Amino acid sequence: MSALLNQIKAGQSIVILTGAGISAESGLATFRASDGLWENHRVEDVATPEAFDRDPDLVQKFYNLRRKGVKDVIPNPAHEALAKLEKHWDGEVLIVTQNIDDLHERAGSKNLIHMHGEVLKIFCTKCAGGEMNEHVKKIEWHDDLFTNTPCPSCGESGGLRPDIVWFGEMPYEMDRIYNALAQCDLFISIGTSGNVYPAAGFVQHAQMNGSVTLECNLEPSNVSGAFHDHITGPAGQTIPELVNKILTS
Ligand code: APR
Repeated sequence: MSALLNQIKAGQSIVILTGAGISAESGLATFRASDGLWENHRVEDVATPEAFDRDPDLVQKFYNLRRKGVKDVIPNPAHEALAKLEKHWDGEVLIVTQNIDDLHERAGSKNLIHMHGEVLKIFCTKCAGGEMNEHVKKIEWHDDLFTNTPCPSCGESGGLRPDIVWFGEMPYEMDRIYNALAQCDLFISIGTSGNVYPAAGFVQHAQMNGSVTLECNLEPSNVSGAFHDHITGPAGQTIPELVNKILTS
């Protein structure tokens, strides 16, 4: 376990970035596993506003399957350990997740930002007047969504879309995230490949401020070199150990 953790003192702030790897042991496939393909489409080609304009039925089908997938799985020991850390650590613990599943909140995490949106929410582009951000009114949605599903608020069809930040769109709550990174003492990245910005650049922001930075992954990510230290292994094993170490530091 990283000797750098000895520098962390009670009351200090911790920011944790999570990616698809933390949910892998719950049974949700990561994005870049199996060549990042879904029914012969590159995932990046389904998760864009252009794809939604071109073929809304296909994009809705993709997210209908993601919604079903999330309901079939449960949080694993890594999610549970992070919730325990938030509960027992006497400084701030903020989780910034790129994941669209709800496994962190089901494990009990409360101080949580879904920077790429949430698959169990949707919003109406007509009600939102073309806006797309964290302030737009979201609707909790657990069923299939179709192109002709009418909006429960305005009654019009054709405007509902998953509350997912697609490639080319601005992730949510970036001001809050950068403020937290500027003030944190420990930055931990778990289960993300470092392919997608701005999340892949968070380690640099945290380090500029003098934060200790730790990467926990199955394999080196694209931005591994930017971290002070690394813990290699499946998150379901490494994160409970890491949390126990922090809580006894
Ligand atoms: N424990 C720890 N790490 C794991 C585990 C595990 N059990 N299983 C896989 N990993 C690692 C992989 O080695 C990989 O580095 O998790 C990472 C998952 O990477 P990606 O599939 O690229 O997922 P992520 O980094 O979250 O993707 C970022 O890309 O497609 C977009 O918006 C989407 O939020 C997503 C973003």
